[in-house]
Order: sequence, then structure tokens, then C-alpha cells
Amino acid sequence: MTHTRQPILAQPFLKWAGGKGQLLDQYAPYFPASDLRAYFEPFVGSGAVFFHLRGRAQQFTHYHLSDSNAELINCYCAVRDHVDALIARLAAHRDGHSREYYYRVRGCDRDPAWGQTPAAERAARMIYLNKTCYNGLWRVNRKGYFNVPIGRYKNPDILREERLRAASCALQGVTLAPRPFEAVCDHARPGDFVYFDPPYVPLSTTSNFTSYSADSFGADEQRRLAQAFAALDRQGCRVMLSNSDTDLVHELYRSFRIEKVAARRLINSKGSRRGMVPEVVVLNY
Ligand SMILES: C[S@@+](CC[C@H](N)C(=O)[O-])C[C@H]1O[C@@H](n2cnc3c(N)ncnc32)[C@H](O)[C@@H]1O
Repeated sequence: MTHTRQPILAQPFLKWAGGKGQLLDQYAPYFPASDLRAYFEPFVGSGAVFFHLRGRAQQFTHYHLSDSNAELINCYCAVRDHVDALIARLAAHRDGHSREYYYRVRGCDRDPAWGQTPAAERAARMIYLNKTCYNGLWRVNRKGYFNVPIGRYKNPDILREERLRAASCALQGVTLAPRPFEAVCDHARPGDFVYFDPPYVPLSTTSNFTSYSADSFGADEQRRLAQAFAALDRQGCRVMLSNSDTDLVHELYRSFRIEKVAARRLINSKGSRRGMVPEVVVLNY
């Protein structure tokens, strides 16, 4: 069945590490514009690419967004299905905001009953923490408890009602799933378009990257991702991937087309200087 979809202008409603907003102009020539079938984005994050594509005249027949972060996917579900309840809860967080309130909300996930909390309530907490925590970082400890300290903001933008309503419209009919990236190979069909935006291979390799760690995206995960890319290529999908301009990325994707783009990134570990850093886009078309 072919769906007729109207383009909808919407933007990310979360701050997210590695957000692709600034690269969309450079990516535009690489996004397929004709013979469109389904769209898959298995590392959706803040969804900058998805929202951009939903605003184009050329629409995919269906959109499938996923991420291994289940709290994030719950947030998208709440924006899609319960936007009024979500906005009401976020207004309460905005009105209650203080240092002490932040730490109280941060601690909610320590409560054994938290697992039964309705989707809109959980999503409002995630957005509230995202807008008020240090650097918009989402980090949980081994027990799965959110542990980022409060950030320094005079006036955090906690509730952007219009943005949430636009995102809700853009998400109507979209399939959302919390799952690891490999699952896309079981769902994508010939002619579908898959866009991968994984955590990047670091520019300087640390032991953290090469050694095994349950929740990090290390060299083994990068290799498994390259295998998934090649499997989708054999399945007849169109595949695009973003990553850093590093030897490992060039080695893993040497049989595919590699294009360079330039991104404005932090260029020292203290985060005090920004500069243009080359990155790559890998394409199988
Ligand atoms: C670079 S971010 C994506 C940024 C996104 N394109 C944006 O514009 O905000 C990478 C995402 O991958 C997710 N992730 C990490 N490991 C994963 C895995 N094994 N499978 C699926 N998603 C994963 C993280 O939760 C994060 O949201």
C-alpha cells in the first residue's frame, strides 16, 4: 500500500550529542529524492535527519525510527500519542524548576514504582532533565539511574509547546521501536533507504574504545555496523552512514563511496574551542 503523506516542518525537541542539524545542507545532495519507499533511522537520537526529511516535498512511504535508548523511544511515543498530557506535565516542571526540584525529579527513577509510570510523565521528565542538565547529556549509571548534574542556565527553555506540537504532527503514523541497530536488517526491504548515524569512531583512539565495555560503542560495534551496512547493500537497500574521517572508517567501508563533509565541533578536551573538523558520509549508491 502506498501512503500519501504531506510534508510537515518540524525540528528536534531534544538536545542530543552528535545532533546532525548543522550538516543537513551538506547532506542534502546525498538524500535520495526519487523512487522513495520506506525510511529507516536506527540511531535516531534527536531525529534531526528525520525531521528534515519530513519537511521535504518528496516523502517516503513510511518512516521507521529506532534507538537502543528505550527512554528516548518512549519520549517519541509520548510526543506522537499524548502530546497534550506531555505539555501539561512539562508546564508543571517549568513552573517548579529550581536546583532542589531538579534533583528530586532526577531521583524519580530510583523509585521501584517508576517502571509503571505513564509514558507522558516519563517523557516530560526526560525533556525537563534534557533542558536543565549539564550539556543536555543523557547518561545513566550501571543501575540505569540518570546521574547528570544540573547545568548552568539562567533561563532554560523547558517547554516549547509549538515545537512539540509540530513534532507530534510529523510523527503521526511513524513506527517507533527501542532496539539495537542490527534489527534493521530484518525489517528493511529492497528499495528502502537506511540512514545510520552511530556514535563516531573517536579521532584519537583510547583504550576505552578498543576494549570491551557492555554499554559503549567500541571497535567491535563499528565492525558489526559495517557488516549490517554490507548486508543491507546486498538486500538491495540504499544505505547512507555518517562517521568520523578516521583510518578505521575508511578501512571498514573501502568498497563503498566515501564523501567528505566539514562539521563545526569541539576541538579540545576542555570543550573551550571549536573548529571545522572533517567527517565522512558513506553511500552505497
Ligand atoms: C550520534 S547519536 C545520533 C544523533 C542523531 N542523528 C541526531 O541528529 O541527534 C547516536 C545514537 O545511537 C544510539 N545508540 C548507541 N548504541 C546503539 C545501538 N547498539 N543500537 C542502536 N542505537 C544505539 C544512542 O542512544 C544515540 O541516540
